[in-house]
Order: sequence, then C-alpha cells, then structure tokens
Amino acid sequence: MLTVKEMKDLQGKYVYVRVDFNVPQTNGVIRDTNRIKAALPTIQELLSKGARVILMSHLGKIKWKEPDPEKIEAMKKANDMAPVAKALQELLPETKVHFCAATRGEELKNAVAALKDGEVLLGQNTRYEKGEEKNDPALAAEWASLADAFVMDAFGSAHRAHASTVGVPSILKEAGKPVALGYLMIKEVENLSRCVEVKDEDRPYIAVLGGLKVSDKIKVIETLLTKCDYIIIGGAMSYTFRKAKGEEIGMSFLDADSLEYAKNCLEKANGKIILPIDTVATTSFDPTVEREIKIVDAAEGIPANMEGCDIGPKSRELFASYIAKAKMVFWNGPMGVFEQADFKNGTVAVCEAIKDLEGKAFSVIGGGDSASAAKALGYKQNFSHVSTGGGASLEMIENDGHLPGVDVLK
Ligand code: 3PG
Repeated sequence: MLTVKEMKDLQGKYVYVRVDFNVPQTNGVIRDTNRIKAALPTIQELLSKGARVILMSHLGKIKWKEPDPEKIEAMKKANDMAPVAKALQELLPETKVHFCAATRGEELKNAVAALKDGEVLLGQNTRYEKGEEKNDPALAAEWASLADAFVMDAFGSAHRAHASTVGVPSILKEAGKPVALGYLMIKEVENLSRCVEVKDEDRPYIAVLGGLKVSDKIKVIETLLTKCDYIIIGGAMSYTFRKAKGEEIGMSFLDADSLEYAKNCLEKANGKIILPIDTVATTSFDPTVEREIKIVDAAEGIPANMEGCDIGPKSRELFASYIAKAKMVFWNGPMGVFEQADFKNGTVAVCEAIKDLEGKAFSVIGGGDSASAAKALGYKQNFSHVSTGGGASLEMIENDGHLPGVDVLK
C-alpha cells in the first residue's frame, strides 16, 4: 500500500484526508484533543509537499431514524465541527485553517476552490449527510470529485464502510488517482497486527476485557479464544459470565440476551477465561446518595439489593498474577466505574500490573474507555501502544487484521 510519505508531486494538488476528529466535547468545549494531535504528522507531511488539504471527519452520532426534524437539528447542532476547526488552527499556528459549514454543494466546492497551496480546509461533520453511513454512491462521487488524491488517517473509523472512508477512495482508486495510508494508520496497523498474528515470542498473550455489553464483544471473545493464552474478564460484562457460572449477581448489570453465549464460551474456553473472585458492591451507583459499599466473595454472591461496581482485592491480585506472566497484553474496557474513587482500584491494579511489564512485554490499549481510564489515572505512558480506535481495534482483531477502510486501499 502507498503511504503518505511516498506520495509525490503534490504541489497544488487537492488531497482528501479522512481523519477521525470524533473528539469528546460538550457544547463546543473539547475535552481531549488527542485525536486531532494524532493526525498532525500526516497533515504536516502533505502541507510540506505543497498540497491543498481537505479534511473530513464525523463527530458524534446523528440518529437519522429519528422522525422529529427538530431533534435531528438539535443533534446536528450538538455535533458541529466548527470548534474542532478552531482547535486545529491552534495546533497548526503557521497554517491557515479554513472551515466550511457545508458538507456538499456549491458552498463546499467554492471553499475547496479558494484553497491555496499549503492551506487546510476542514469540512462540516460528514454525518450531517444521511448518505454517509450508507456509503451513498452519489455523495461519495461528489466528495471524490473535489480531490486529486486520498489519504486515510482515520483509524478510529476504519471499521466503518461509509462514503467518506470507503466510497471516496474506491472511486479515486478506480480513476487511477493515488490513495494512501497516513502516518497514524501505519502506526496503528503495525502495532495492532502484532495482536492479530501472534508470534511465539509474544506468548503468553493475555487479553483483558471489560466494558458493558457482552453482545458488543461476542465475536472478539471468540477470536481471542483462538489467539490468546488467557482472557481476563472484568468490568460490567463479567457479571453476565458470573451469572452463567451460577453465581448470584444481585442488581449488577446483566446482558440477559448473551447469557447462553457466555455459558458456551465458558465451556469452550477450557480454563482460558479468568473471572473475578470477589467484587466491590454498592447499594447505589449514584455517589450523591447515602450508600453502603462492601467487598463480597464470589462464593457468597452479591446481595439482592447491591450491584457490583469494581473487582475486589483478591481479583486484583489474581489478575495481576496472570498479567505478570504475559509477554503481550491487549486491554479493552475498564474493570469498574473508574471515574469514582470508590471503584477505581480494579482498573488501577490492571494499569499497575501492565506498568510492571514495561521493557519486558508488549502492551496495547484498544482505545475508548480504557484509553481514557489510563490517561485519567496517569498510566498512559506505560503502555507500548495506545490505540485511538476502540471499535476499530476490536474489529481488526475479530476480522483477522481486516478493516474496510484499509482493505479498500490495497
Ligand atoms: C470512535 O469514536 O470509536 C470512532 O470515531 C467511531 O465512531 P462511531 O462508533 O460513532 O462510528
């Protein structure tokens, strides 16, 4: 595959770059600019070659099934890309960053035509277009018509076969125009490929999974069972497995539809799945009310009026003892409600155990909540690779290294 570094003759050329600027924000206040920073090396490479850079990204979700047009408008307003353009301008002080409030039509065409060499244009949220998520051919063709080349640098969106991720590059490729991987994509694909095609020297390979719904991670658990030596399951999804084992889980989160699946998994796992043996349970998840918090052993079961919010001290030791043996760790999903001090110890213990592996093993965080947890708890720098894509890194493992946004460039 062509890389952005290898691209030549870009002076004055229009390059459509799909980035993932789906940053956490509330009312236009961006809480974390990490994803914007992660795309800068690619943008700078193109600018240094004199290109006219058209950046496109989605932001948040627009639920097009919503029948009330006012609600659609409110979703659009909440996910306006303008503040992202401002943040990008601050990160690129030497470069003129333009913003176009339109996603297509004359306004976008004129904004693109007005770009000068070495300037950047950020388009409005791609999901303002209903056809984006359906990979609408007319939309993809309109966007493709703006560009002489395409660069994919949106690792976090590479598992989505949308108009901006797959439609545009397939049209440009067909037309004989260059389509390439950006620096962020190269780094992500290289690091995550190691978790897909496992070498002997990377064993024991241990996956640590958490998060809410088993159903979201069904396929990845199945694939990981074939690749990993052990899968440690904590966090909210562990209660479904514990229920499947016959434990009492009180009011803890249960993904009832996945109970049978969890049973089958445990049977097939042959001891490879390691579950918590105790729990920090509470009468309420809400920190503003008076609540009882206690540690319960798995054998005792979680009382009917309590819910599990973190793994307990024995589980922390158990999990750390497995992680200590690992040569490679893939982590996706916190062990508990780490945002609350009462329930952060399980996630801290996993971070500490992985920190102890520094220099001795390869460790990857699969994006999303685990990356936020590692950052908030101060451990981000202790991992070999922190992926910018949660869903994308899971799907890459699930599908043996394949992602639609990468395969289209081949
Ligand atoms: C992410 O945040 O994981 C990516 O930007 C993809 O977002 P999506 O799940 O809304 O497609």
